[in-house]
This record gives sequence, C-alpha cells and structure tokens, in this order.
Amino acid sequence: MTAASRPARGDRGDGAGDRVAGAGDRGYPHGGGRDGASPPPADASPAHAAVELCGIRLRHPIVNASGTFDAIAARRVFGDELVTRFPFSAFVSKTVTLAPRQGNAPPRLWELPAGLINSIGLPNRGLDGYIEHDLPELARLPVPLIVNVMGFHRDEVVRLVSELSARDEVAALELNVSCPNVETGLVMGADPGETARLLDAVRPLTDKPLIVKLTPNASDVPAVALAAQRAGADAVSLINTLRGMALHPATGRPWLGGRTGGVSGPSVRAIALAQVDAVRAAVDIPIVAMGGVSSGRHALDLIRAGATLVAVGTESFRDPAAGERIAAELAAEQARVAPPRGRRDAG
Ligand SMILES: Cc1cc2nc3c(=O)[nH]c(=O)nc-3n(C[C@H](O)[C@H](O)[C@H](O)COP(=O)(O)O)c2cc1C
Repeated sequence: MTAASRPARGDRGDGAGDRVAGAGDRGYPHGGGRDGASPPPADASPAHAAVELCGIRLRHPIVNASGTFDAIAARRVFGDELVTRFPFSAFVSKTVTLAPRQGNAPPRLWELPAGLINSIGLPNRGLDGYIEHDLPELARLPVPLIVNVMGFHRDEVVRLVSELSARDEVAALELNVSCPNVETGLVMGADPGETARLLDAVRPLTDKPLIVKLTPNASDVPAVALAAQRAGADAVSLINTLRGMALHPATGRPWLGGRTGGVSGPSVRAIALAQVDAVRAAVDIPIVAMGGVSSGRHALDLIRAGATLVAVGTESFRDPAAGERIAAELAAEQARVAPPRGRRDAG
C-alpha cells in the first residue's frame, strides 16, 4: 500500500490580513497564467489528476499553503465564480489560535529578489470567532476544508483540536508546530520529543486526519517527522517559512515590525526539495510539500521527491489564479511523463 492510499485513522476509505492574494494586481481568474492567458477551468482537471490524502479524495494535487490565500476576501472580490472555479482542490485555512491575535506591528512584508520575508504574526479572530464567522463561509467552498491551528501551550492545541474535530465542516486538521511552547521554551516542531508529546495529547481526541506542518528551522527535520509519524500523525506538511531578516536601508535597524520574519517564495524552493527528499526517506505517511512553487514543473519535482499533494503559497500573491494554472500545468507534465492508461492503451 502506498503512503498516498494509506487509510486514515477511523478507516475513512494572512495571510496578509484581509488582502486577497494578488487581488487588485490582476483580476481572478481571467488574468491568470504567467503570460496573462486564461488557464483552463480547474474543474476540467482530468480524471487521472485525482488524488487521495488520508482518505480525502481530491480532484488534483494542488492546494493552497496556509495564510497565503484568503478565500473569504477572494469571494467578496470575485463573487460566485470563485466558488465554481475554485483554484485549489482543498482549502487550507490560515492559522487559527485559541485567542484572537492582532498580528505583528507593521511593516509586515519585505520583498526579496526572489520571494518575500513576512512578519504577519498570525492575526486571526481566535477559535470562537473562527467558528462563528469564518467556518460557515468556508464550508460553502466546493472543496474539503483543512483547518490549520497553533497553540502556545499543549492545552491550547488540545482545545483547538477537540472543538474543531467536532465540526462536520472540517475534513482534516493541520498542526502548525512552529511555535515555542511557553512551558518549555522549546519550539514544538523543532524537537522530536516536544512533537511526540503534542501528538500524544491530541491524537486520541480526533478521528480526523492530523497533518503536522513541520518547521524548516530545526536541526533534524526528518527526526521530527518520524516522531510525528510514530505518535500517530496521518501526514506531514513542509516547508514552513525560514527565519530571515531585513534591515531598513536608511537606519540600519530591523525593517519588519516583528524584527525577523519568514522567508518564502522562489528563494526557498531548493531547500524545500531537499527537506521533502530527506523526510520521504524517514517516514511513509503522506507528505504535503510546499516552498517556492510557481509552476507545474516545480510541483512535479516535489511529487517526484515523494509528495502526495503540493501547496502553492507566495505565488498566489503574484497570480491569484496560480492554483488552477499550476494544477493544469502539472496534469500536462504528468501526462507527458507517464501517459494515462487510456492514452497508452489507445496507442
Ligand atoms: C504572508 C504569509 C502568511 C503565512 N501564514 C501562514 C499561516 O498562517 N500558517 C502557516 O502554517 N503558514 C503560513 N505561511 C507559510 C506558508 O503556508 C508556506 O509554508 C510557506 O510560505 C512556503 O511556501 P511558499 O514558498 O509557496 O510561500 C505563510 C506564508 C506567507 C508568505
């Protein structure tokens, strides 16, 4: 049995605040595509593109990376067409914390020659606000909903997981473990023991698939992935952003309100590929891979390195229709590399 087809437990078969990624720069979906050409509609995904993650069937392997596509704001801007032509095969929420958060002081973004440093600081309405305001809207999307959560304390993650696990609208949970445990000072996802203890606490609380989002800011990422698998994670996702810094050109002081931030985009793609390759060698649960993906070819590289799904993040700020374009490009690449059965037989 491949990792992708492994049944889930229970045997089921800011991003930038309210800003829509790229909205205003380019209309969705007609201005999508690198050359401005409209990509084919996402629901035209060929049948051979369908994939399964932990028992959840998806029409293609491209999802959004947490915090980089605001589906609620996008729906306000683009209307129902966003729902009928949703660019991703599942929607991953930005990180939800137990208490509401304002996020970091501005400035929150620094543009790199090939990517971004963000210091958004996880602004969100908190769990209660999410359940009351966001969940009903996100449940109307035509794709499964994966909710990304983070706690500053194991008990916070326990609350987040147990409350969201009771909601039928939620298909799976992604645990963002890039945060220090206030009790120990250790970043939960940087230490295999911390990661295992977190999973030990939350695994018994839910039958929904648990995806552990690994931090690349760890000395031994495969060891953390293995600890997550052994403690019952259904999948891992990687990479989150790498810690980076920019200085104000005039004052020489840190530019970002949060002092440091997370580096993403094309600059991190080679790192993502290496980390996915190393994690694939360590675990056999599915991998959701991300980091600098801006084309179907990049997505195929991560799938070849062992990913089941690929998430698109920073690229959606440049091209809000990137998800459907990359899904179409990936399907074309896959058909070229290994023609689907019908075509082979027909030949
Ligand atoms: C503006 C911005 C906001 C992000 N917010 C979150 C978040 O809320 N939760 C999370 O787990 N990752 C967050 N990320 C990290 C992305 O999900 C992704 O792991 C990372 O950006 C690498 O992918 P990319 O290079 O395609 O952007 C954010 C990234 C960016 C650029």
